[in-house]
Amino acid sequence: MKKQIVILTLGLALLISCNTSMVKYNTFNPGQEWQDDNGVHINAHGGGILYFDDLYYWYGEHKIEGEIGNTAQVGVHVYSSKDLYNWKDEGIVLSVDSTDSNSEIAKGCILERPKVIYNEKTKKFVMWFHLELKGQGYAAAKSGVAVADKPTGPFIFIESVRPNKGVWPVNVQEFHKLPVSDTIKSKYCGGRGCLPAHVDSVNILGRDFENGQMARDMNLFVDDDGKAYHLYSSEENSTLHIAELSDDYLSHSGRYARFFSNRYMEAPTILKTNKGKYYLIASDCTGWDPNAARSASADNIFGPWKELGNPCVGQDSSTTFHSQSTYILSIQGKNDAFIFMADRWAPKNPIDGKYIWLPIYFEDDKVRLKWIDKWELSVFKE
Ligand code: GAL
Repeated sequence: MKKQIVILTLGLALLISCNTSMVKYNTFNPGQEWQDDNGVHINAHGGGILYFDDLYYWYGEHKIEGEIGNTAQVGVHVYSSKDLYNWKDEGIVLSVDSTDSNSEIAKGCILERPKVIYNEKTKKFVMWFHLELKGQGYAAAKSGVAVADKPTGPFIFIESVRPNKGVWPVNVQEFHKLPVSDTIKSKYCGGRGCLPAHVDSVNILGRDFENGQMARDMNLFVDDDGKAYHLYSSEENSTLHIAELSDDYLSHSGRYARFFSNRYMEAPTILKTNKGKYYLIASDCTGWDPNAARSASADNIFGPWKELGNPCVGQDSSTTFHSQSTYILSIQGKNDAFIFMADRWAPKNPIDGKYIWLPIYFEDDKVRLKWIDKWELSVFKE
């Protein structure tokens, strides 16, 4: 009798655990909890997607509970999916170093917005991320790079850099090359509103010429010709840089340009239409608090870029529906079908952050985002 009860209880427990772990999605539900194949809320914040061998891979910051979760305690998490609705936990692909506190990626550093691209020539998976050194707040403003043989890692950390050291951008202006005053040299700023004047009158680009440019919020983009670009908020976040990567994607080629100076564009995301037009969606610079997104378009990745205003329409458009951009996902096998991916941050308990995925509409040569509670991939035409 006792044995039967034990078996029955075990069976029931198994049934319950199977049930809770078998949420099968066939819609996107922006802002709701989104469970993986184990029934756990997906933990891939500030994320981005790689499509490889018929699978989508979602890489993002693994957050933990409590405010300490705003620093990197674990590393970068990846999930895989065939249909974009249901995601399988594939584990941690880049771990922070919990043994060597002098490591650049020591546990407790800040490691944000990881993105992974595949290099056809070297057959390697290359990850770039925004890196802040442990105990230095957001002062370091560096970019980390790591490499792997498989999309599921493990990724091996190579180095961190301040991009484009000793190189002027293709659209440098003569005043950038003039000597920089000592007050600007010593001043650390750290965010919007801290520069005493327009960035071009204090010349942060010139200040950082010798040691490399600051790089915080970032993204990667691989163009049709295989050239990859690193987009990052630079010059005390005031100005966006678009920088070409080397052929192996492991460093910067030295060809870069600066855009939207003094507009404090953060969280840059980018898409290219089949007709060859580039669109950018980014945010303003207000930390974890959401703000109104910005958009822009260009015929060439190195500009000129034309600002098109807030792409969001309707209720909550002034806060990007309480979220901040992180990536634009191009859907395979469909024509100009893109998903805007954003984070609804929860800085008090970062593991709780939710994801906003919305279809991107094109209207009058502009990108548009509208809130939808629930939607399916069928909103896109084939
Ligand atoms: C945001 C940025 C995030 C994170 C945060 C820290 O503006 O987009 O990635 O760096 O600031 O306050």
